[in-house]
Amino acid sequence: MLTAAAAMPAAGFSQQKRPLKNGPIVLSTWDAGLEANIPAWAVLEKGGQALDAVEQGVRHTEDSINCCVGLGANPDRDGRVTLDACIMDHNHNCGSVAFLERIKHPISVARRVMEKTPHVMLVGEGAQQFALAEGFSLEPDKLSAAAQSAYADWLQQSQYKSPTINRENRNDHGPFAPTRLQNGEWNHDTIGMLAMDSQGNLSASCTTSGAGFKMRGRVGDSPIIGAGLFVDNQVGACVATGQGEDVIRVAGASTVVELIRHGRTPQQACAAVIQRIIQIKKERAKDIQVAFIALSNQREIGSYAIHPGFSFAYKDAQRNELIKAQSWFK
Ligand code: GLY
Repeated sequence: MLTAAAAMPAAGFSQQKRPLKNGPIVLSTWDAGLEANIPAWAVLEKGGQALDAVEQGVRHTEDSINCCVGLGANPDRDGRVTLDACIMDHNHNCGSVAFLERIKHPISVARRVMEKTPHVMLVGEGAQQFALAEGFSLEPDKLSAAAQSAYADWLQQSQYKSPTINRENRNDHGPFAPTRLQNGEWNHDTIGMLAMDSQGNLSASCTTSGAGFKMRGRVGDSPIIGAGLFVDNQVGACVATGQGEDVIRVAGASTVVELIRHGRTPQQACAAVIQRIIQIKKERAKDIQVAFIALSNQREIGSYAIHPGFSFAYKDAQRNELIKAQSWFK
């Protein structure tokens, strides 16, 4: 039985881990965030803008061949890697790409959409055409070795249906949870990053290959402003990871930010939106993983997940460390 009382977080990160009173902060999802925080921090420590930091940070992860982000990631069920990304700054400027193929850095294309077009979102062939016109290279149409092998395994069963989170048949928490590759690297679906710069301005980025072996054309929450990511410089910023369909259903990231606006701490706000998803999904909540991380403009941080196993990477001038998120299921 899922009760409201069971959803209440014991203690917020704002109590457990107080950020430094001043100076920039970077938060990013999953273990891969520890590495991604470093190029982001290189921008911030020189007095750079949060927007540049969140772009540089997740570009690092997009470059990684051993990550379910970028072109090294698992393909859709037709064997094609399709990428989603978005970015948002402290002035409500935002840009997004979805269903983008053969372009190495979707996050940078999303930024160009934001800065060079009157639009917020470009998808598919149009997004690729725009990227090429902006000077991005068309990468080879081939899978990484890890993705080839995972796809070959998947084809053996070839369950030609929309992705269902299945804890028993896949890994602990479905295709959106990290899995350990043979070489020991962690494999993640999404990296989301939040940063505050030395001016106190917030920005956020998010980039993913989405669900492994998804239906062709499937787009998750990650490129959808308000679902996968949201920034309001007067309030805070939030980014989501996990089962995108269930994040979209509750307009996840913007709902977290709205709850912060109305007085919740980031920790309480993340927990409340996870609780909302659980109330919608009922018993099916045990089969999905969703997590949020949030940063308020008062420098409080928070995170909450449906299942244990989600961590986020926190960086300030003193430390770069992985923090285990609290979760509904223990
Ligand atoms: N959160 C990633 C996705 O659902 O595509």
